[in-house]
Amino acid sequence: MPANKPKFYLTTPIYYTNGLPHIGHTYSTIVCDTIRRYKRMRGYDVVMTTGTDEHGVNVERSAKKAGVAESEFVAKMAAEWRALWDELGVQGDEFIRTTDLKHAHTVQWLFKQCRDNGYVYPGHYTGQYCIYDNAYVDVKPGENCPDCGRPTETVTEANFYFKLSAFQKPLLDWYAKHPDFIQPEARRNEVLSFVEGGLRDLSITRTSVRWGIPVPGEEPHVFYVWFDALTAYLSAVGGPQYEKTGFWPADVHLVGKEIIRFHAVYWPAFLMAAGLPLPKQVWAHGWLLMDSAKMSKSLGNVVRPRPIVHVLGMDALRYYLLRETVFGQDGNFSYDALVQRYNSDLANGLGNLASRTAAMIEKNCGGKIPKPAALQRQDTTLATKAQEAIGEVLVQYDKLGFSLALEEIWSLIAATDKYLTTEHPWSLGESEVDQQRRATILWTTAEVLRIATALTHPVLPESTTKVWSLLGQPDQPGSFSLDGLRWGQLAPGKPLGKSQALFPRIEKAEAIERMEAMEKEEQKQPSPVTAHAASPVSAPAAGGAAAAAAPAATEKIGIEDFAKVEMRVGQIKTAERIVGADKLLKLTVDIGTEIRQICAGIAQYYEPEKLIGRKVAVVVNLAPRKLRGVESNGMIVAATVGPEGRPVLAGFPDEDVEIGARLK
Ligand code: MSP
Repeated sequence: MPANKPKFYLTTPIYYTNGLPHIGHTYSTIVCDTIRRYKRMRGYDVVMTTGTDEHGVNVERSAKKAGVAESEFVAKMAAEWRALWDELGVQGDEFIRTTDLKHAHTVQWLFKQCRDNGYVYPGHYTGQYCIYDNAYVDVKPGENCPDCGRPTETVTEANFYFKLSAFQKPLLDWYAKHPDFIQPEARRNEVLSFVEGGLRDLSITRTSVRWGIPVPGEEPHVFYVWFDALTAYLSAVGGPQYEKTGFWPADVHLVGKEIIRFHAVYWPAFLMAAGLPLPKQVWAHGWLLMDSAKMSKSLGNVVRPRPIVHVLGMDALRYYLLRETVFGQDGNFSYDALVQRYNSDLANGLGNLASRTAAMIEKNCGGKIPKPAALQRQDTTLATKAQEAIGEVLVQYDKLGFSLALEEIWSLIAATDKYLTTEHPWSLGESEVDQQRRATILWTTAEVLRIATALTHPVLPESTTKVWSLLGQPDQPGSFSLDGLRWGQLAPGKPLGKSQALFPRIEKAEAIERMEAMEKEEQKQPSPVTAHAASPVSAPAAGGAAAAAAPAATEKIGIEDFAKVEMRVGQIKTAERIVGADKLLKLTVDIGTEIRQICAGIAQYYEPEKLIGRKVAVVVNLAPRKLRGVESNGMIVAATVGPEGRPVLAGFPDEDVEIGARLK
């Protein structure tokens, strides 16, 4: 790869792990994958990032429901997402998980930059809280929880605010200076009027959520949703060392329209606050609708990609999604239209043109690309159309106008079909003149096919690779430079490659029946986590927030890893409540070599005075940290029991163990 290739960085949204991908998510990823392939063919050094958004209350809840630790839950779900993208050939170059350690470091670093620059301040967040679900809910005071229907309470918690209000003018100036920053136009207008209406500061940490990246030195604060999630784009390409990779700022963040505001307002404001370069563009696509409603798990109207790919192939799904919907607008999904497109455009269009061209060359030209004689007017008309199509298609791809690009290519395919019908090479005889004419027609047709194949490759990677080798072309179409694509480059004399099945015609009713039956089966499958879960909920320590950036729990660790955790028998010497922290007790614990101060989140379940003299298991080699402003130097081990997560201290009731003895 030449060192001087321009770099191009694009991203899909990072997907929530509390569900599995449907074709709405697949749409975002397919579009990015298409851009990635296209840009490579235009000579760019491309990186595409996708990944999973794994923190927050919803994951806490789903993991609890599945009876597994959060880390185990997200590891399994992320593996499912990754496996599906691999299966569909759209895996991207970077897969970032928000539980990756490098991501936690980037988020903490970004926060520090924003704070050092004066854009972060401590405050309080007040909202309606459901104590049963342990989560804030978006209802008015006095209203019940929309999830469980139980009463909510007005709760105020300490958190950190980001001074979003300071960025109204800088953002408006940025939009004015970079008119293409937000695409399409309708979304740009929407964002502009939102920002013009004034910006309120944003709460970016929580103390009520446990499953998140800790705010260093401010535990139990963890980063809240968007400050965490958006930063993944930067973590994937070097984080604090982004200059070394050279892939920041991003060229395009591709997102669904419902999350444009986070990407076009919050994200640039965070970056401005930290003094970092802003992405060049945020492109919001529309929704895939099913029966006029957004396809979503909560509405129960989702369609999964696997059945479609199984019956019609991946390229069919890609073609349908990119051709049928004008990029940026909503599009309706229907099995009927999908199979219709498959049969008319792929089987009867590209597939048929490729197989009959190859068959005629095989039969009449000894299986080698024929040498054209002098071109006639009909040939040059088609040549001109093909040459114009090259220019037009590239312009459309550059604007992400996929449906227009494909329309242009398919109009060229239709013109070639018509050309074959009017020139009917099959009815020419064996005279020298007829043979030359037939060779010219077949070369012209094969040349159109080569051009159409190269242009379609970003959308139909699998099938165009087959046509490319059928035409005897070297390498893969993906490594062909679209900048060098011209009419007339098809070299005569090259033998055709092996003919491979492209798009076999399919009976519509039967195809739909098969896809719907498979879809029903998919929906019946248990969640991958409940399906395989074997281990019980891991016991979180009673010391407060769990370390959010822990390695995936599915990975087994060696004894040498376990040996890194130093646990000893300790004896509680004093215990007292902490003013303003109703869950925490401040303990002093004798661990044999010294007396330590440790905070433990057990105040709601243990009376301080009853703990004096009790022997407990203590993790003694944890880095000290502050919980609610109180230094905690170590962690008391406890099991978590019952739906409300009651801590039960691990201890040694029946044996006389020495204080300071090591647990192994
Ligand atoms: N995790 C956040 C994004 C954080 S990005 C820093 C999120 N995740 S999501 O899984 O709910 O959705 C991700 C994306 O999936 C949406 O932005 C959208 O691109 C896509 N889609 C989900 N349902 C969709 C449709 N029905 N139609 C088209 N795309 C939709 O939001």
